[in-house]
Amino acid sequence: MGRREPSAWEAVPPSQEVSKPWKRRAYVGKGKAVSENEGNGPGFATLSDLETSAQPKVIPPVWGYIQSGAGAERTVRANREAFDRRELASRAFRDVRKIDLSTHLLGTDVEAPFYISPMAYQGLVHPEGEKATARAAARAGVLLALGTLSSCSLEEVAQASGQGPRWFQLYVQDDPEKTRRLLQRAEKAGYRAMIVTVDVAVLGARDQQASSGLAMSGPIPLGNGPEFVAPPRGPEGKGAHFTIPDHGPVTEEVLERVRGMTSLPLVVKGILTPEDARTAVRHGAKAVIVSNHGGRQLDGAPAALDVLPSIVSAVGDRAEVYMDSGIRRGSDVLMALAMGAKGVGLGRPVLWSLAAGGEVGVGHLLTLLKRELANVMALTGSRSVSDLDPSMVGVR
Ligand SMILES: Cc1cc2nc3c(=O)[nH]c(=O)nc-3n(C[C@H](O)[C@H](O)[C@H](O)COP(=O)(O)O)c2cc1C
Repeated sequence: MGRREPSAWEAVPPSQEVSKPWKRRAYVGKGKAVSENEGNGPGFATLSDLETSAQPKVIPPVWGYIQSGAGAERTVRANREAFDRRELASRAFRDVRKIDLSTHLLGTDVEAPFYISPMAYQGLVHPEGEKATARAAARAGVLLALGTLSSCSLEEVAQASGQGPRWFQLYVQDDPEKTRRLLQRAEKAGYRAMIVTVDVAVLGARDQQASSGLAMSGPIPLGNGPEFVAPPRGPEGKGAHFTIPDHGPVTEEVLERVRGMTSLPLVVKGILTPEDARTAVRHGAKAVIVSNHGGRQLDGAPAALDVLPSIVSAVGDRAEVYMDSGIRRGSDVLMALAMGAKGVGLGRPVLWSLAAGGEVGVGHLLTLLKRELANVMALTGSRSVSDLDPSMVGVR
């Protein structure tokens, strides 16, 4: 009998400590150590040391899963280059003594114009998984988008999030009844919008993930129940002919059917062209998310930031436009908002902070991002998110 391929979950046996206790001295005054924090701190001090602080806290296969992009990772790099290529106008003579970060995303009041993007399997990163992320988001007044493929059930996450604003991200299931059940559960548990991800007709070919050893062929336990499925891997085939299972591609017909299953407002995630944005709006999307999935899907797709303005103008005031892919700092958030996004999704930095310090780590990330966004708003002469406009962003 051949050897069974280990499942991703088996790559993180329960006995193996995924999140090591954090050790860091805090210094104040004349360089005297006043506290030594073991395991209770965020695990990183600044946004600049977040990624490197997180890496030692997870085993290499999980790190590969988080970091991986598709193919040669050209789109992963393009996402960052799009920010690096641009500059912000520094402004004087403005009264910026009071700065307000608050906004509303589809009528949901939030304390910051950024939200937590849906990301699968957070139990691989920290034992508390999405519950820790949800508690931190709720405390910060930041919107949480929970993925279909969460390690904790959507009900557990709703309980952890309490009064916190939350939306549910749907991967269309291989049986319409399963899709309907998930949506009914999400509605009942207080998720206020449905995000349908449309850029995963088939999972991107992620070499880094494959070579780092996280075998995704086995079942990874899903908090929502073992009957639910991830988007298909593949395509599978022989000779010239390849096929993808039915539940992968979200056609217009599928989108329409899913929309009819719930009264939750529809948000469509994974849009990179004006034409697709118009299609989503035609099918009732109240918001679209300009995203290349953090470079994890089509390698060679453009940076989300680069295509954002064309999608903002295609959609006009018919829907809200959000953006993710490559957001790492407050200045990135400001740039995307100035270029027309109403909200900005945080991706990998949330997983890094979850690995580094669990709930406290995610809370620290959100605090640092709020503070840095307020800081760059002051320096660009902006008092509220409605002050931001494209004239503030130039190309080097
Ligand atoms: C480990 C990981 C898992 C993800 N899982 C999902 C998912 O289940 N559903 C989804 O719509 N997007 C998923 N995404 C994509 C994110 O929602 C988001 O689009 C992306 O992370 C943004 O890019 P960035 O991480 O470079 O900021 C995932 C991303 C990562 C890194």
